[in-house]
Amino acid sequence: MKLVLSLWVLLLMPWTISLAGEDDWQRQSYKQSKRLPDLHHAVDVKLLEAMMPPEDFVLKTGRLLQCKTCHGLEKMDEIPYDKVNKDAPDFLRGGPYPDFEAFCYQCHNKKDNERPNIHVMLEKNGEIKKQNCLYCHEEVNEQREKPRKPADLKLRLPIENVCLGCHLKTPHLNAPEHQEAKPKDEMKKHMKVEAEKHGITLPLSNAGKVMCVSCHSPHPDGVIDGKKNPAGRQVLGDVEKGVEYVKHSWDQVYQADKQERLTLLEQTTRERVELPYKRIKSEVLLRLPAKNGQLCLSCHEFDR
Ligand code: HEC
Ligand code: HEC
Ligand code: HEC
Ligand code: HEC
Ligand code: HEC
Ligand code: HEC
Repeated sequence: MKLVLSLWVLLLMPWTISLAGEDDWQRQSYKQSKRLPDLHHAVDVKLLEAMMPPEDFVLKTGRLLQCKTCHGLEKMDEIPYDKVNKDAPDFLRGGPYPDFEAFCYQCHNKKDNERPNIHVMLEKNGEIKKQNCLYCHEEVNEQREKPRKPADLKLRLPIENVCLGCHLKTPHLNAPEHQEAKPKDEMKKHMKVEAEKHGITLPLSNAGKVMCVSCHSPHPDGVIDGKKNPAGRQVLGDVEKGVEYVKHSWDQVYQADKQERLTLLEQTTRERVELPYKRIKSEVLLRLPAKNGQLCLSCHEFDR
């Protein structure tokens, strides 16, 4: 757990904090100053037995980490820090890495360092994992079947922010359109009818805007009994497996249609972009299924 935390703290922190006045060393090389950038990874530590980085991650005698192990630039230790080209593809060996963690996982074990899935809130015997509740709530809401007013949720952050930090603001297609989206009165009326019809809730933020939990329920099925409390009524999925997709024959047509634009995007970003068409097989943490359109139609009405 310690490594899990420290790894995340390290990833979340900015890499450099400039200290006014005593920053001369930033214009020197490592060889001159023997100082590493603030919050930098340790060097001269021994590679653990279990770590198996690619062969070009060259080690120093005694299997110690050196600059060359992680950086592909020539004589990294002799370049003044303000002259280091951080945009060079090989600045981090094997780079550039669109997914920064992928670099770390070449030595550190992915499984041990992965973020725990806090949405897995139930023990095998059906009891709740109380410690998980406290990621978002200030206290464990014991009376789970009793519908609550927003003020009684005791959330650690305003409800529209509680998912951020762990998830991006734009986690998927369709999310950007709903950032700051504010249902008009007509939509609100429709939402009320739909929520009652399906026995669900469609909460909006204090400012009346759509938020993550308008569409998603944060808890898996079983934490709140959906028959007694509409906040618990949702699609029945497996949180451990997450959303599952299956291949679909439309993919070929879809890919062909996007080929030209994707190639252009890849040339400018120098990252491989994959955008396959897949069908949703099983959904999870949603108030209503989206694959048959029910969720969307609980707010939107389309002319027929
Ligand atoms: C275990 C791998 C590893 C080793 C060993 C290593 N580095 Fe780094 N270094 C990194 C990572 C990761 C970053 C951050 C890259 C980023 O933020 O994109 C970094 C960033 C840097 C930066 C840029 C900091 C900034 O301004 O953002 C410098 C300079 C640097 N390293 C120098 C060195 C020197 C000199 C050595 C040898 C004494 C060394 N590194 C050894 C992994 C390593
Ligand atoms: C070339 C292999 C290598 C790479 C790549 C690498 N590490 Fe490490 N890391 C090590 C070694 C070796 C140690 C020291 C052994 C130990 O204590 O686990 C270490 C130690 C650490 C520690 C301290 C562990 C503790 O218990 O205090 C953290 C945190 C860490 N690494 C984070 C990262 C992050 C974040 C990245 C990616 C930016 C990264 N490492 C990339 C080899 C690597
Ligand atoms: C990822 C953040 C998160 C975690 C973790 C979490 N909750 Fe919640 N909880 C929320 C949010 C957001 C709401 C308000 C939206 C809703 O009702 O779905 C809420 C609402 C509730 C409600 C009131 C439902 C209503 O509106 O009547 C209960 C009861 C509750 N949570 C219990 C729990 C329990 C018990 C746990 C731990 C097993 C837990 N929560 C873990 C975010 C979380
Ligand atoms: C308009 C409704 C809507 C809003 C708003 C919304 N989502 Fe989603 N989200 C969906 C649908 C639909 C899926 C597709 C997966 C499914 O059917 O279960 C999904 C999937 C996800 C997934 C899984 C992605 C994957 O491919 O595995 C995550 C994570 C997620 N949403 C987080 C968020 C977060 C965080 C926010 C708020 C910033 C948010 N969503 C806002 C409807 C929404
Ligand atoms: C403490 C961190 C944390 C918080 C807070 C959090 N999540 Fe998650 N969430 C995760 C992790 C970890 C997973 C597992 C999948 C992964 O690693 O991305 C996950 C998975 C999901 C998924 C399913 C994606 C899939 O396919 O597995 C959805 C949907 C989701 N979160 C929505 C939310 C919403 C909505 C909120 C706010 C109420 C929220 N999360 C708050 C960490 C968090
Ligand atoms: C909680 C209510 C809610 C749900 C559920 C919802 N939407 Fe929306 N959506 C809105 C609001 C509000 C807007 C802002 C524009 C408006 O008022 O029509 C919007 C805008 C959009 C837009 C942009 C339209 C434009 O004119 O700019 C698209 C596309 C869209 N939604 C698709 C979807 C899809 C697809 C789903 C189902 C996965 C969905 N929505 C579910 C409330 C919702």
